[in-house]
Amino acid sequence: MTDLWKPLKDLHAAAQDRAIMDLFAADPARAKGFSVSAGEMLLDYAKTNIDAASKAALIGLARSTGVAEKRAAMFGGEKINDTEGRAVLHVALRAPKGTVIKTEGSDVVPQVHEIRARMAEFVRSVRAGTLCGQGGAYTDVVNIGIGGSDLGPAMATLALAPYHDGPRVHYVSNVDGAHITQVLKGLNPETTLVIVASKTFTTIETMTNADTAKAWMGRVVANPGAQFAAVSTAAAKTAAYGIDPEWVFGFEDWVGGRYSLWGPIGLAVMLAVGPEAFDAFLAGARDMDEHFLNAPFEDNMPVLLALVGLWHNQICGYTTRAVLPYDQRLLRLPAYLQQLEMESNGKRVAMDGTDLGIHSGPVVWGEPGTNGQHAFYQLIHQGTRPVPCEFLVAREGHEPELSHQHLLLVSNCLAQSEALLRGRSRAEARGIMAKKGAEGAELERQARHRVFPGNRPSTTLAYPKLTPFVLGQIIALYEHRVFVEGVILGINSYDQWGVELGKELALALQPVLEGKAGTDGKDGSTAALVAFLRG
Ligand code: F6P
Repeated sequence: MTDLWKPLKDLHAAAQDRAIMDLFAADPARAKGFSVSAGEMLLDYAKTNIDAASKAALIGLARSTGVAEKRAAMFGGEKINDTEGRAVLHVALRAPKGTVIKTEGSDVVPQVHEIRARMAEFVRSVRAGTLCGQGGAYTDVVNIGIGGSDLGPAMATLALAPYHDGPRVHYVSNVDGAHITQVLKGLNPETTLVIVASKTFTTIETMTNADTAKAWMGRVVANPGAQFAAVSTAAAKTAAYGIDPEWVFGFEDWVGGRYSLWGPIGLAVMLAVGPEAFDAFLAGARDMDEHFLNAPFEDNMPVLLALVGLWHNQICGYTTRAVLPYDQRLLRLPAYLQQLEMESNGKRVAMDGTDLGIHSGPVVWGEPGTNGQHAFYQLIHQGTRPVPCEFLVAREGHEPELSHQHLLLVSNCLAQSEALLRGRSRAEARGIMAKKGAEGAELERQARHRVFPGNRPSTTLAYPKLTPFVLGQIIALYEHRVFVEGVILGINSYDQWGVELGKELALALQPVLEGKAGTDGKDGSTAALVAFLRG
C-alpha cells in the first residue's frame, strides 16, 4: 500500500535545518500566502514551517483521502458514523429555512425549525416572566448535563456574557456533590428553572444530579417537576421522569453530543442571551459552513487549520496542541475543544477496523492569555519539546472604556507568537549579560539561561469582536477542522467507544465500595485503594 504521508515526511526531513524565519526571508509575501480569511476572520499560519511544497502536499493529501467526497456525504445525510449507524447532521441545526437536508429519505430541516420555534417561545415566556416558578419570574436557570450537554453551552454562555439579558444561567456537570452544592447555594428554589440536558437521558452523573436538584426543590416547592425542563433524544425517558412533554425539547440521534450546542442543548444559552442573539450565533456557524463547502482547499480555513494540525502532530511529531485565547470570555474554549477534538479523533482503529498506522489526534490543552504567560509559557518557550500554539484574539473588546487594557492584551498576544518565532540567540543573550556587567564564564553561564531557541510554530486566529455571530463562526471552524483531520486520518470522528469501559467498571465498583461485594478479581492496586477509601 502506498504511504500517503511519505511525500510530507520527505519534505519535513529535507527541511530539518530550516528555520521558519528563513521562510519569511525568502518570501516577503509569506504573511499573505500563508493566511486565509473567512468572513471577517483571519487565520495566520505563516509562523509555521510549512512552505509552498509542503502546503501543496498537504492539500494533495486532503484531496487523495476524499475530504471533498466525505464532506458531501456528511452534508448529504449519509450515515458516515458507521460504527453507530448514524448520520452526522449538526449542520442541519443551523441550516436556514427552506434548505433541504435529507437522511433516510426525509428532510430534517423543517423539524429543526419547528423545535427552535418552540424553544424561542419557551425562552420568551421565561424571560418575560409569563412562565414562572412557584415564587414568581425565574431568576436562575440550572443546566444539568455533562460532556457535550455541558461543555458547549457552558463555554458559549460565558463567551456571550456581554449579551446576557435574561435569567442567570448556571451549569452543573460533575457527579461530585460539591459541584451541585456550590451551584445551588444561594439560589431560591421557588424561582429556579432546572434543565436536565442529556442526549441519552441515562448518563449517571446527570441523572444523579437531577435527582439531587429535584429533592432540593421539593423541600420548598409543592410540585418541583413543574420547574423542570428537559433536552434529550429520549422522549419516553423524559416522560417517565415526570417532565411535562411541553417542556421537553427533543433532537435526533444524527446529532452527536459534542456537536449538539446548536439545537436544544443550547437552550440555556438562548435563555441567557435571547432568541435573536442565538439566531446570530447560528448564522455565524452557517457562514462558516458555506465557506467550508465552497472555498477551494487552498483558501478553506477549516481545511487549512486541519492540515496545519496534521503537519504538527503527524509529521513533526508534536504530541500536544495549546489553545491560547487572548479573550478571557473564551476561558472554557480549551475544555470544550478537548472534548470536541479528543473524543472525536482520539482513536486507534481506522474506519475499516484495522490499526490506524499513524498517531491519532493530539492532546489539546490551554488557558487564556495573559494568565498562561505567568504559568506554563516558560515550557513553551524554553522546554525541550516544541508545543504548537494556537492563539485567538479580537481586534476589539467589549469594554471600550478599557481600550488601553485591550491594547495590552493584543500586544501580549502578538509578542508571544513573535517570541516563539524569533527566539533570542546566544549572541543576543551575551549582549544582555554584558550590559549587566557579567564577564567570562559567569557571563556565558548566565547567557545560556537567557537563550530562546525560537523557531516554534504558532497560528493566530484574529476576529473583529467576540459577538454571537463570530462565536458561531469560530466553533463551526473547529468542528469542520476536526472533521477534516478525522477523514485524513481515516477514523470515525463521531463515535466514542473509549468512554465505555470506565463507565462499566464504575458501575461494578459501586457495590464494592458499599461493601456489598468483595474485591475478588480486582487487581491488587484497585483492591488496596478500595480498602483505603472505604476507611
Ligand atoms: O461519556 C461520553 C458522552 O457520551 C459524551 O459523548 C456526551 O457528550 C456525554 O457523555 C453526555 O451524554 P448525554 O448527553 O447522553 O448525557
